[in-house]
Amino acid sequence: MAFPIHRLRRLRQSEPLRRMVRETTLSPSDLIYPLFVADGRDRKEEIGSMPGQYRLSIDVLVKEAMEVRTLGIPAVILFGIPDRKDERGSSGYDPQGIVQRAVRALKDQVPDLLVITDVCIDEYTTHGHCGLVRDGRVLNDETLDCLRAMARTHAEAGADMVAPSDMMDGRVAAIRDELDRAGFPDVPILAYAAKFASCFYAPFREAADSSPKFGDRRSYQMDPANLREALREIDLDIAEGADIVMVKPALPSLDVLALARQRVLVPLAAYQVSGEYSMIKAAARAGWLDETRAIMESLLAIKRAGADMILTYFAKDAAKLLN
Ligand code: PBG
Repeated sequence: MAFPIHRLRRLRQSEPLRRMVRETTLSPSDLIYPLFVADGRDRKEEIGSMPGQYRLSIDVLVKEAMEVRTLGIPAVILFGIPDRKDERGSSGYDPQGIVQRAVRALKDQVPDLLVITDVCIDEYTTHGHCGLVRDGRVLNDETLDCLRAMARTHAEAGADMVAPSDMMDGRVAAIRDELDRAGFPDVPILAYAAKFASCFYAPFREAADSSPKFGDRRSYQMDPANLREALREIDLDIAEGADIVMVKPALPSLDVLALARQRVLVPLAAYQVSGEYSMIKAAARAGWLDETRAIMESLLAIKRAGADMILTYFAKDAAKLLN
């Protein structure tokens, strides 16, 4: 039953043959592009640790969104960089906050592009944590009210989907309840379900100036050692009403994606995070990797592991290569 009867190289001989037996393909429709929005006008500020990614003012963001739509990418996810922070992250759930204003502008000027919003207070708090802090501890239940208000004001501004990334227990149920009460039963929740306490978020924290000012996030984000717990997080978020669940970071968590794909029926998202982007960029700049091939191979691996959609800073580059 083996060699020489079977020769797997027979089907690898030419590109048409390889194309015919290819098991996984990528399409611009699989991609979601993360964008950072800040106050001001005509502002496009490159993020030092993420070459090719920018903090954009709303007018520039709208132009960027038009290009994203033209490339066939169905959605963006927005992160806000506010000009004012406080203990409670209140600029994050101000109806006139930066994300709320950006959503209104996008839905007004690029209505057929899906706008997803990140729901988490860390970018808006002086202490940089994803929850309210008392006596050096990150509070769970008290934080849920902030997340409710943030999700509701995003929906009121016109967000097509909200994506809680805070890792507080019970936040999906709380947000679902809030959206339903406020008249948004059709706004889906994309839950950052299995989010590990990862060093690969470091460039993002530079971009959003959101590093915790004391301690770290390990009392709420997951221990990277835990696979079964990741599956419990996913099960619980689905039970609480998540429409799509996300695993993050992507490449270091392919086992979680693969197992989740076998166990759950909801769509699965993966976030190729800032550090994954910056690693490839840095290696390519040093001449150590072919950037194009590194982008496509990493995205393909994430898809092969089980992701239906991928949040990636490479979305535009990949879409250009695929179109
Ligand atoms: C929290 C949030 C973070 C990311 C997405 N949402 C940062 C964190 O948890 O520290 C990271 C995304 C990335 O690294 O690209 N608002």
